[in-house]
Amino acid sequence: METAELCLVNIGCLATPLGAAARAGAAQGEIRLLRDAAVAVAGGRVVYAGPAGGAPDAARVFDCGGRLVTPGLVDAHTHLIFGGWRQRELALRLSGASYLDILRGGGGILSTVTHTRAATEDALVDKGRALLGDMLRHGTTTCECKSGYGLDLETELKQLRAARRLQDLQPVTLVPTFLGAHAVPAEFSDRRADYVNFVCDVALPRVADLSLASFCDVFCDVGAFTADESARILARAASLGLGLKAHVDELEDGGGAALAARAGCVSAEHLIRASGDGIRALARAGVIACLLPATSFYLDKPYAPARDMVAAGVAVAVATDFNPGSSPNLNLQFAMQLACLRGGLTPEEVLTAATLNAAAALRLSGEAGTLEPGKWADLVLWNAPDLPYLLYRYGTNLVHRVVKNGMFVTARL
Ligand code: NIG
Ligand code: FE
Repeated sequence: METAELCLVNIGCLATPLGAAARAGAAQGEIRLLRDAAVAVAGGRVVYAGPAGGAPDAARVFDCGGRLVTPGLVDAHTHLIFGGWRQRELALRLSGASYLDILRGGGGILSTVTHTRAATEDALVDKGRALLGDMLRHGTTTCECKSGYGLDLETELKQLRAARRLQDLQPVTLVPTFLGAHAVPAEFSDRRADYVNFVCDVALPRVADLSLASFCDVFCDVGAFTADESARILARAASLGLGLKAHVDELEDGGGAALAARAGCVSAEHLIRASGDGIRALARAGVIACLLPATSFYLDKPYAPARDMVAAGVAVAVATDFNPGSSPNLNLQFAMQLACLRGGLTPEEVLTAATLNAAAALRLSGEAGTLEPGKWADLVLWNAPDLPYLLYRYGTNLVHRVVKNGMFVTARL
């Protein structure tokens, strides 16, 4: 074997899923766990991951002090770029208003739209850079990033351009998603069909033309877009070559999981209220269920039926849903801990959910999500001796060091 650039030695526990495709059912919990391991990297990629004894010579050797090492975390669902915050809604919620009450009263998403429209692109980039740096400090090395707080052409493009610029400003891989169908904006409130036409005929072709997004997402739920509207938007996006995602069955079971399966979505998000039929449809179509337990926590809602999904053979991912309204948390460790402590996934299943399956939800599982030769050398050294400790010590950032593309990185200020 050639000499590596860097070899991480004295890894107390190497924990990684294996393979280049999402893992479902029993396979989701079948990960590689190796004591006294080493990982070597060259050219930004893993060249060796295995027992310490087999490691290649390296220009630099780093002692991990017996720590747990996992692949870098992949946050497959975030609304990273937005203007303002929504802490004012906390008091409304405490006095009994629901998320939907606030949305219907012109607050919620629409208040963030007002702030995002008013923000300059530079201001969105500056804010996004700080937030993305914070994600990196918490172990996220790949992050999806949705638009959807513009709801007009200019602002949707501004959000997506800001995401593109962020790519060079922090050592985190960003995957942009167009979410023009996040809410019907106030100026279209009595002409919703016109807004759907705008998304299909104006915004989507422009986003595709400018190659500003890899995916198109829709918020298909009560108070947002109907299944028919969502199906039309997703079909248009597919015809333009975008991958598909859908926020479904969060507030009500509106048959959204079945819609995501019919439409050919790579992943379906939330799924708190998904029915048994919906779950079976996801399994048959190979749609990844992207669960967002930090949103259930903040909105005090039930947790998605993760165990039923695993039992049905659905590949489960876990993400933060970071956004100013329903999940002001960008720490993926916390979402993983909730998926375990409240969602009932095992530590092994959760690790797969936040690495390999999340990478698959971004169509990056050939590159990211496991520590195997050929994959991106993205990994986290944890202040933890083993995997269960990572899911158990909630409430504090357990990251020791982060390696991105083979290099130790820190957030850029
Ligand atoms: O994923 N569900 C829809 N959209 C976001 C919430 C966005 C907001 O409240 O600003 C979500 O939870
Ligand atoms: Fe979301």
